[in-house]
Amino acid sequence: MSDEVVGLERHGGVAVVTINRPKALNALNSAVLAGLDAVFTVLASDEDLRCVVLTGAGEKAFVAGADIGEMSSMTPRGAQAFSGNGHRVLNAISGLQVPVIAAVNGFCLGGGCELSLACDIVYAAENAKFGQPEVKLGLIPGFGGTQRLARRIGAMRALELVTSGRMVSAEEAKAIGLCVDVFPQNGLMDAVMKVAGTIAKRAPVAVRVAKAVQSAGIEAPLSVANAYERDAFANLFDSHDAKEGMAAFVEKRGAGFENR
Ligand code: CAA
Repeated sequence: MSDEVVGLERHGGVAVVTINRPKALNALNSAVLAGLDAVFTVLASDEDLRCVVLTGAGEKAFVAGADIGEMSSMTPRGAQAFSGNGHRVLNAISGLQVPVIAAVNGFCLGGGCELSLACDIVYAAENAKFGQPEVKLGLIPGFGGTQRLARRIGAMRALELVTSGRMVSAEEAKAIGLCVDVFPQNGLMDAVMKVAGTIAKRAPVAVRVAKAVQSAGIEAPLSVANAYERDAFANLFDSHDAKEGMAAFVEKRGAGFENR
């Protein structure tokens, strides 16, 4: 990996994005946010992209939060800009057209937990610790943690975590829906790359439409959301890949998807 604060590697259709500030437990300062912004801007226009894996460098942390040193001298106006910038970057991640998987390889606190909440799917290493400890600093989460956490794990559990600031083990994180599964630290990336590789093999248009319909529908009343699904389902019948996928099943052969 290069010495960039945010690294980008390609493995076929899968991009691996690594936050690379291990001495500060990958804390999100302005440089890291700018790096994430730049990398996800590049990825947003990449038509060959099928899935993204986001992780942190080193063995201790995914991301231990927003950079407290940088925040400590902020005025309310500066904090408003910092929070707005964090929201913009995390929205770019959650809004990416393909699934983004977080490989949480250690501390996943504050802004780091919020970053995992902006990802579509989360896997954790056994040493991972999740939490929103901002109340210990006299703050509240500023990158979406008061909102996305409640949507992911429910309002009651979310407020318990946000108001206690306590840390959650990987096993508890799995039990309450903060991650899908837990792996030994030295097996995490292999396991996550396998999932990403599986997604990358599926019909690309269908994967993108599935994410888009779920993301739009979750903001809407169920009747409206189901209408999104019905229309998107119908539109796929015009795509090469749906015709090919169903024909291949009927003809008992492998499908050749062409992303159209
Ligand atoms: N910001 C800046 N630096 C951080 C950091 C953070 N969030 N978290 C860790 N670091 C730095 C430490 O200052 C330390 O640097 P030095 O070696 O230069 O002293 C280095 O990373 C290693 O950290 P520790 O020595 O503290 O490691 P530890 O293993 O003893 O403890 C820890 C690990 C429990 C994660 C502890 O570092 C910690 O509590 N970090 C802060 C966690 C936190 O409060 N996060 C929320 C931030 S606020 C936020 O994120 C707001 C928002 O929503 C936008």
